[in-house]
Amino acid sequence: MLKDQITNLKNEAIGQILEAKSLQELEEIRARFLGRSGKINELTQVIPQLTEAEKGQFGRLINETKKTITEVLQQAQDKLQTTERPEIFFDPTVPGIQPPLGHLHLITQAIEEITAIFEKIGFRRVRYPEVEWDWYAFGGLNFPENHPARDEWETFFVANLYHGKFGRGLLTPHTSSGQLREMENNRPPIRMLNIAKCYRRQSDISHAPMFYQFEGLVIDENINITHLKGTLDYFFKSYFGPDRQARIRPYHFQFTEPSFEVDVSCSECHGAGILASGEVCRVCKNGWLEIGGAGMVHPQVLKNGGLDPQKYTGFAFGWGVERVLMMKYGLGDIRLLFEGDLRFLQQF
Ligand code: FA5
Repeated sequence: MLKDQITNLKNEAIGQILEAKSLQELEEIRARFLGRSGKINELTQVIPQLTEAEKGQFGRLINETKKTITEVLQQAQDKLQTTERPEIFFDPTVPGIQPPLGHLHLITQAIEEITAIFEKIGFRRVRYPEVEWDWYAFGGLNFPENHPARDEWETFFVANLYHGKFGRGLLTPHTSSGQLREMENNRPPIRMLNIAKCYRRQSDISHAPMFYQFEGLVIDENINITHLKGTLDYFFKSYFGPDRQARIRPYHFQFTEPSFEVDVSCSECHGAGILASGEVCRVCKNGWLEIGGAGMVHPQVLKNGGLDPQKYTGFAFGWGVERVLMMKYGLGDIRLLFEGDLRFLQQF
């Protein structure tokens, strides 16, 4: 009889604990069953009327019941504590948790920085199609049909895309494809900065199949090589630091005449190729680091763009955004810029 009463009480307590929705409710259940004047203690009032043997048995039963109820209560409390934050735990003086903040990708930062530098001297940023016609990327830039130079750009041609006048469709392999579009859109004076994605079938530590180039194009009356050289010096000093200089070397591009390769003086030996200690500079070996191409716009290209080469002259240059970025920070592998590895990106 007594045993049944204890079992019923235990089941009643467990039932209520499982139903409880808050820590407050659990505390009330504890008091109701296990408290000093709780239901279990009420039962113990019959003890004086029991025989010695019954007392022992009853005592054990009571202890087991209290233990079970306490355990079930503890489990329910643990579960609720993870979902419920009682008000008494709220401390307004504890500093808040800072949510993780992202930032612009390194390449986007470089594009913004390069744009700001050129805007200061009157260049205007433009964008032209990434999927382009052969005429703008090659034909109109003096690459004759079947000229092997076309292969140098290792171009992705788009299957089944053909324009009756402008030729095959392709993924633009260099930002020079913007030169003719700019001449068609605007009359001189032209100061274009075309920054765009370019595509080539290349992949190694300094080449990616998709990369960014930035192309400068200046066309007006009386533009000459000194304007090009001045612009290059200005950019290098602004982007790399005041002690850097530009050097131009003769080269060949189909769409510029004369053409140059552009170098920037080395940050370590400042163009000397030899360190103060007398050792050969390990960074550059000869004092200069190659950046990209440049030249005076070919008269035929001006004609193709609808401009009179007797009246107008111009210069152009085109370099990789990743190339200048890697030089600035001393990065050894272009793939770091495209992998999205936060351990790398968070450093900038
Ligand atoms: C050109 O693309 C010419 N259009 C540059 C030019 C513009 C010459 C205007 C004259 C007048 P080149 O193929 O050398 O030239 O590429 C220029 C730069 O683009 C390279 O120096 C390099 O920085 C970058 N580049 C070229 N291919 C890749 C590639 N696969 N991955 C990353 N960067 C590249």
